[in-house]
Amino acid sequence: MPRISEECQAYDVNGMCRYHRFDAICVNPARVNQGVSTWYVSIESLWAGPGFCADTGCDTVASLLFKQLLLIQANMSPNVFDNILGTIGNTPLVRLNRITDDIKATVFAKVETFNPGHSIKDRMALKMIEDAEEQGLLKPGGTIIEGTSGNTGMGLAIAGIVKGYKCIFTTTDKQSPEKNDALRAFGAEVIVCPTDVEPEDPRSYYSVSARLEKETPNAWKANQYDNLSNSQAHYESTGPEIWEQTGGKIDHLLVGVGTGGTITGTGRYLKEKNPAIKVWGIDTYGSIFKKYKETGVFDKNEIYPYVTEGIGEDFVPQNVDFSVVDHFEKVTDRDAAIYTREIVKHEGIWVGNSAGAAIAGLLQLKQHFKSGETVVVIFHDHGTRYVGKMFNPAWMREMGYETVPGPVARELIRNKEVADVVGVMSTDSIEHAVSLMSDHNFSQIPVRRNDRIVGSLSESHAYSCIVEDPEIRKQPVQTIMQTAFPYVDIETPVTLLAQMITPEHPAVLVRDFKADKTYIMTGYDVLKAI
Ligand SMILES: Cc1ncc(COP(=O)(O)O)c(C=O)c1O
Repeated sequence: MPRISEECQAYDVNGMCRYHRFDAICVNPARVNQGVSTWYVSIESLWAGPGFCADTGCDTVASLLFKQLLLIQANMSPNVFDNILGTIGNTPLVRLNRITDDIKATVFAKVETFNPGHSIKDRMALKMIEDAEEQGLLKPGGTIIEGTSGNTGMGLAIAGIVKGYKCIFTTTDKQSPEKNDALRAFGAEVIVCPTDVEPEDPRSYYSVSARLEKETPNAWKANQYDNLSNSQAHYESTGPEIWEQTGGKIDHLLVGVGTGGTITGTGRYLKEKNPAIKVWGIDTYGSIFKKYKETGVFDKNEIYPYVTEGIGEDFVPQNVDFSVVDHFEKVTDRDAAIYTREIVKHEGIWVGNSAGAAIAGLLQLKQHFKSGETVVVIFHDHGTRYVGKMFNPAWMREMGYETVPGPVARELIRNKEVADVVGVMSTDSIEHAVSLMSDHNFSQIPVRRNDRIVGSLSESHAYSCIVEDPEIRKQPVQTIMQTAFPYVDIETPVTLLAQMITPEHPAVLVRDFKADKTYIMTGYDVLKAI
């Protein structure tokens, strides 16, 4: 068997070593007969063609035999690597057999949990680092700074360890704490920032990472949103892998969209191979992608806090190429959470929240996937990152996502007289809010700023403030407003919804995301309906 040196000169599109610099044993049948069994040749001359035989004494047959042996060895021992970075990519494509019962097409999942950081982000993290090294932006001993919800951080941290870089990450208080702890285990410094602030706010995780980049010597900010090495990584690896694994027989690609790197790079590659392939982006309620794609309008009213992790944005990252995406489909937090669990139950594949969103979206779009067609869905990350959330039954119950028998909020809404939520503006006077509540016979009212609900006001709280200081009635509502009522999905079981109505939250806002309608529901409404 030829000995292949560890030093690889060039990789093929799948990251497999195709050109080795090495001295190898070439078996020349003719010379074996003469008692000579070894030959030392360079792979460059070997792959250049049979001409190398003139230099080495190998004949053409030996040359072909040698190439064959090389390929066998390359295929037989692909699981030996110089370091962990070599294990990135080449993830399996796994057919889904049960959760897709309602889908006529064959559906495969690209299971990205097999990457060393357990997510697809390892691919782009390494590519961003290597490109930055090549461009002289990241220097030896440097510090990598990034705003990351966890997965990109993990990819950067792994590469940082192997390559000797320090990592500082900013993240948001919305992310699972397990993700932050995992990053810390890799030696990264993690700074947790508030979610519900504008990206330009100095406290946002975007702003904090920008400031750290300026303040830290020898720092490089990866900037996964606008760094095009991100989508390029998927153009060079994820796309070609899927094309090869399906033998080019892919009709639909369905991907959750965050930075846009995965959908843009993978979708672009596949569409270049076959422009008829349809690319479906999965978005979440509270994110701007769908409306931006459909209208070209950046609508700030689309933005509000949501639970789903990894997908959706409140700005347009440069890595999203909207021309690659044929359609964006929005999925509710509730459906994404439920399907995250269903994938494990039905397929035995433990994946994260954006995979749940992708499957929920796939089922919403099922009429588009015809018999005989092939759909590939990307499963971005591993379920271990969600043990405190979607895989925690108590959390599912608290959020109203548990499926329990009995009526759901939608059935109570049918009996409600008030069609849409009535709210008061945060700048309206307290006096106005009180008269609105009295006109409608409400004991509490949501408070809005523009189109967002930012707080609440109860009649009893307003009265006690006025009794204390009668002049306050001319002040704007925002001076005395209380915390906003929680949002619940219209499919929430009434038994769970009833538990959410407490003295601190005397009402909940029932949201029909698909119809874009919000209803206020009090304990009295629940009792009346039951
Ligand atoms: C779990 C998860 N799913 C989906 C995505 C979206 O992928 P992309 O950023 O390539 O659009 C991300 C990105 O952070 C993620 O972490």
